[in-house]
Amino acid sequence: MTTETFQSQLTSVATDTESLLTRLLGDAAVSGELARPKRLAEAMRYATLNGGKRFRPFLVAASSALFDVPRERALMVGAALECVHCYSLVHDDLPAMDDDDLRRGLPTAHKKFDEATAILAGDGLLTFAFDILARPQAHPDPAVRIELVLALARNSGLGGMVGGQMLDLAAEGRFDNGKRQSLDEQGVATLQAMKTGALLRFGCVAGGILAQASADQRAALDRYGDIVGKAFQIADDLLDVEGDSATLGKAAGKDAEAGKATLVAVLGIDKAKARLKSLVSEAEAALKPFGAKAAVLAEAARFVAERKA
Ligand code: IPE
Ligand code: IPE
Ligand code: MG
Ligand code: MG
Ligand code: MG
Repeated sequence: MTTETFQSQLTSVATDTESLLTRLLGDAAVSGELARPKRLAEAMRYATLNGGKRFRPFLVAASSALFDVPRERALMVGAALECVHCYSLVHDDLPAMDDDDLRRGLPTAHKKFDEATAILAGDGLLTFAFDILARPQAHPDPAVRIELVLALARNSGLGGMVGGQMLDLAAEGRFDNGKRQSLDEQGVATLQAMKTGALLRFGCVAGGILAQASADQRAALDRYGDIVGKAFQIADDLLDVEGDSATLGKAAGKDAEAGKATLVAVLGIDKAKARLKSLVSEAEAALKPFGAKAAVLAEAARFVAERKA
């Protein structure tokens, strides 16, 4: 399978996810809602529809394709996951968190709108993710939808992404009179598996849930997702050191100054790069049970390690 195949699938999932989100996040209230405040709907669209690789929806689509799950279902679940991801970015960029002004090459949501609107847009997107998952278009069987809801909630919340963001700020010394918590390699790995890995892992296991795949198949997707999650944040941390803001569409070079706990800080650049490389091999090994059908997911792991933005 060539990179072009991966790239073209990524592009097609991105296009389809964007049209789905455009449709779902319109100005008109839907059944059960009272009204959609225009400024809030605009901020939610701003946060979700302006760029972004759509790598998480791609993972849902590609893991679903292993089992021939109907594409409409995978796109719904991918859109829900992207809502959680985009909310996490809006809140991550707030002055109280990473305090960033640039995201996806544009002003961050709180710069474009204001802090209160950005907080509410994040809240709205998080809630909206579960609205999407609860719809029959995500899966006709309510038991499968509940499984998806539970898995996304677990990966997003206290013991997942939100918990990881808390550990990230704690390591910076935000809560203990500026005292930094120096984390060892294992500590950083746990933090990163939570703040970044959890949502990516959900993208990988989602296909197995939608297909009601066997326990072995789900375990393999879980393993692959875990590895890709680790690789993704190591690559992000390397890009913070070696990338430039124009290419990244977000600030570069801020992690060291902020005292972020990263594997680059613990291991150094060369070892972090070597770790990234070995994670790609581990990802390929995890996909073995799926044979040639998983070629595009193997390509995706290589993309994660080699990406420049
Ligand atoms: C950025 O995620 C935040 C991290 C978890 C490192 P992405 O690199 O996927 O950001 P977009 O969605 O493409 O903008
Ligand atoms: C992002 O980590 C993790 C989440 C948003 C959950 P970073 O803070 O490193 O992401 P960027 O670099 O701002 O995209
Ligand atoms: Mg952060
Ligand atoms: Mg950040
Ligand atoms: Mg970063």
